[in-house]
Amino acid sequence: MDYDIKDLKLSDKGALRIEWAEQNMPVLRLIKKRFKKEKPLQGIRLSACLHVTTETANLMDTLKMGGADVVLCASNPLSTQDDVAAALVKHHQIAVFAIKGEDNKTYYRHIQEALRHRPMITMDDGADLVSTLHSESGRSLGEVLGGTEETTTGVIRLRSMAEKGVLKFPVISVNDASTKHFFDNRYGTGQSTVDGILRATNRLLAGSVFVVAGYGWCGRGIAMRAHGMGANVVITEVDPIKALEAVMDGYRVISMNEAASIGDFFVTVTGDIKVIRKEHFQSMKDGAIICNSGHFNVEIDIPALEKISKRKRTIRDFVEEFTLADGRRVNLLGEGRLVNLAAAEGHPSSVMDMSFANQALAAEYMTKQGKKLEKKVYPVPKEIDQEIARLKLEGLGVRIDRLTKEQEKYLASWEMGT
Ligand SMILES: NC(=O)c1ccc[n+]([C@@H]2O[C@H](COP(=O)([O-])OP(=O)(O)OC[C@H]3O[C@@H](n4cnc5c(N)ncnc54)[C@H](O)[C@@H]3O)[C@@H](O)[C@H]2O)c1
Repeated sequence: MDYDIKDLKLSDKGALRIEWAEQNMPVLRLIKKRFKKEKPLQGIRLSACLHVTTETANLMDTLKMGGADVVLCASNPLSTQDDVAAALVKHHQIAVFAIKGEDNKTYYRHIQEALRHRPMITMDDGADLVSTLHSESGRSLGEVLGGTEETTTGVIRLRSMAEKGVLKFPVISVNDASTKHFFDNRYGTGQSTVDGILRATNRLLAGSVFVVAGYGWCGRGIAMRAHGMGANVVITEVDPIKALEAVMDGYRVISMNEAASIGDFFVTVTGDIKVIRKEHFQSMKDGAIICNSGHFNVEIDIPALEKISKRKRTIRDFVEEFTLADGRRVNLLGEGRLVNLAAAEGHPSSVMDMSFANQALAAEYMTKQGKKLEKKVYPVPKEIDQEIARLKLEGLGVRIDRLTKEQEKYLASWEMGT
């Protein structure tokens, strides 16, 4: 088996951490049990491009138990947990191509390795696998049944491909499942982003001015958690409805131009480019801390920061200090890449349980239905979404009411009024 990881000797540590994550993934465990028995993915070659974390390891194992022949590469150069990569190779015999801190060239070489597997199903987080597959002339895509996509930015890229008529196979947008973005993007990104900032800096949030750019699913999660730790949260937005929601949720909403000079911490989660740029760095306070939790490292204009800086040094792990011409310092975390994965461990397993249950069931659905689907982006079928929520509640020991016959009838009727 071919693989490219940092060090196979890290495998035992990784195996324990994978087991720890599994304890909090009851829905995926149930799916794994069924997959083991029914083998719904038998004969399927699957290439996954995901953050190599303990939760992803549990997903890979589930897919393998379902009969799939699985290969994994990283979906971000900084998000790989090397001990997990080692454990997957040694204890699960799954080929992994991922090393934390790999350069861009290695990152794309690893994507090529995953594509050499000739996937029948692609599983992406950010659409790098699908876009690389599509950009290579002469590559036959006839064997591909379809793909699944994990994140907002990936879905945006895929929809753009579908609209332009270049998407060559169907893809299921796992991100759009309610059991994904309501929880993963909000509570997962909320907690793990704050975790990444704290691990990297060990600074006090209480009393600080904490600027969140983008009040989407991720942004509201981060704002909620930073507020809970005593920070004065400030939001910047471009969408008037989201901005209004932020106002009524009790946050101060201002432009980035205004926020730049008052913020102690800045987090971008917009999926957009150059949200913090030259004019903003120039008005920042000495010691400002900036980071990104959106998918790509383009939300902070790092080349512009480098250009206006006279010195750059790594002052702590995952903290680069840039000194501007007048001596003020701006600290960039995790090279502007997803701070929750670069400086912490990504989302807690309890939320990834639902995201990856969607991935596993979407792969099963694609195996059965892929040939019948058009070359479009499809949502996760509603029954799958509902079933995952039901199983999660069961796992949490939470019971909810059921509609009575009379209520069902009332809710489906129009005759009854005042
Ligand atoms: N860190 C993680 O683990 C993680 C998890 C899930 C999603 N993501 C990524 O986070 C990003 C955001 O995802 P989401 O689900 O919150 O998306 P979303 O669409 O719900 O929210 C994005 C928000 O950013 C706003 N925005 C766009 N440009 C802006 C600008 N220039 N200034 C201020 N606001 C701006 C939009 O109006 C929108 O409200 C995506 O790149 C997604 O892939 C990261």
